[in-house]
Amino acid sequence: MQHNMERKARKACRAFFFFAGLSAVAFVGLGSLTLDAQPPPPGGRGGRGAAAQGGRPEAYPSRPPADPASVERGKALYGVNCQFCHGADTRGGDSGPSLLRSGIVLDDQHGELMAPVVRAGRPGMPKFTLTDDQIADIAAFAHTFKAAGYDESRFKPPSIVVGDAKAGETFFNGKCASCHSSTGDLRGLATTVADPRLLQQTWLLPGSGAGRGGPPPVVVKPTTVTVTLASGETVDGRLDRIDDFMVALTQADGTRRSFRTSGDVPKVEIHDPLQPHKDLLRTYSDADIHNVTAFLVTLK
Ligand code: HEC
Ligand code: HEC
Repeated sequence: MQHNMERKARKACRAFFFFAGLSAVAFVGLGSLTLDAQPPPPGGRGGRGAAAQGGRPEAYPSRPPADPASVERGKALYGVNCQFCHGADTRGGDSGPSLLRSGIVLDDQHGELMAPVVRAGRPGMPKFTLTDDQIADIAAFAHTFKAAGYDESRFKPPSIVVGDAKAGETFFNGKCASCHSSTGDLRGLATTVADPRLLQQTWLLPGSGAGRGGPPPVVVKPTTVTVTLASGETVDGRLDRIDDFMVALTQADGTRRSFRTSGDVPKVEIHDPLQPHKDLLRTYSDADIHNVTAFLVTLK
C-alpha cells in the first residue's frame, strides 16, 4: 500500500512534505493520508480548537489505567504519524502545537474527541485515515503524559503552591539530587522562573512550558544521535526524526542526512538529555508534584 496525498498543499505543510518525502516508507501499512490545502490560521500555528475553549474540567482528569498493549501500539502509531510535528513527548515541535496543553486531548477519554481532528486535519495538519481503534491507541499513549492535564487544570487557581516544601525537599534529595543541587545548579531557580506555574512545568519537563508565545525559560540541549555504518564510519548530529524504518539527522555543518534502518543495522544511539526527566514524569503522584514545586519556589 502506498500513502497517497495531494501534492497541492501550500506553505503550511512544507515541513510535512520535507519529512514525508524523506520517509514515505514510514506510512506504509498505517493508513493513507490526504493533505488539505487550507490556508494557515492567522497568526501562524498553535491556534486552539473550539473544544479547547469550552468547559475544561477543573480537576486533573482521572482515567482508568490504560491497557499497556494499547499504549504500546499507540506509541508506534504516534511515532510514525504525529511525532515529527507534535514532538516525541507530545509537547509540540516546529510544525505542531503541544498536545500536552490541548483542551481536546485533555478532555478526551478514548480518542472520541481526537478522532474528528485526526480525520479532518487542521491547517498545517494532514488528514489521516486511521480506524477508531488506532486513534484510541494513540489517545491512550497521549494520555500517559500526565503533566499536561495536571498543568492545565492547576493553572486555574491563583496559587498552585499548595504542597509541603519539607516533603518536597525530601523527595528532591531522593530523586533529583543525583543530578541537581538546590545550592548549585538550581540555586536562584525561582528568581529565574518567577511564575510558579511556569516553574512547575519547567521542572516537570525542562524546555517546555513557555505557554502562550514566549520562549521556554530553560533551554535544553537538543537530542543527538550517532549512526554507526557497516563500514565503521560514524555520523553524528541533531536528531530530526526516527521511526522503525529510518533515522534523519542534521550534522554540525548543517548537512541533513537520513539512513534507512533495518533491525540493528546501522547501529543507532540516541542521546536525549531529558530522558531521565521523561522517565520520571510517569512516576510522580499529584502530591509529589505539589511538594517539589513548593520546595523549588523557595530557591530564590
Ligand atoms: C504536518 C504536521 C502535523 C502532523 C503530521 C500532525 N499534526 Fe496534529 N496538528 C498540527 C497543527 C499545525 C495543528 C494546529 C492546527 C490549528 O492551529 O488548528 C494540529 C492540531 C492537532 C490537534 C488539536 C489540538 C487543539 O487543541 O486544537 C490534535 C488533537 C492533533 N493535532 C493530533 C494529531 C495526531 C493524533 C496526529 C497523528 C495521527 C497529528 N496531529 C499529526 C500539525 C500536525
Ligand atoms: C539523571 C539526571 C537527572 C535527574 C535525576 C533529574 N534531572 Fe533535572 N535535568 C537533567 C538534565 C540533563 C537537564 C537539562 C539541563 C540542560 O540541558 O542544561 C535537567 C533540567 C532540569 C531543570 C531545568 C533547570 C536547569 O538547571 O537546566 C530543572 C528545574 C530540573 N531539571 C529539576 C529536576 C527535578 C526537580 C528533579 C527530580 C524530580 C530532576 N530534575 C531530576 C537531569 C536530571
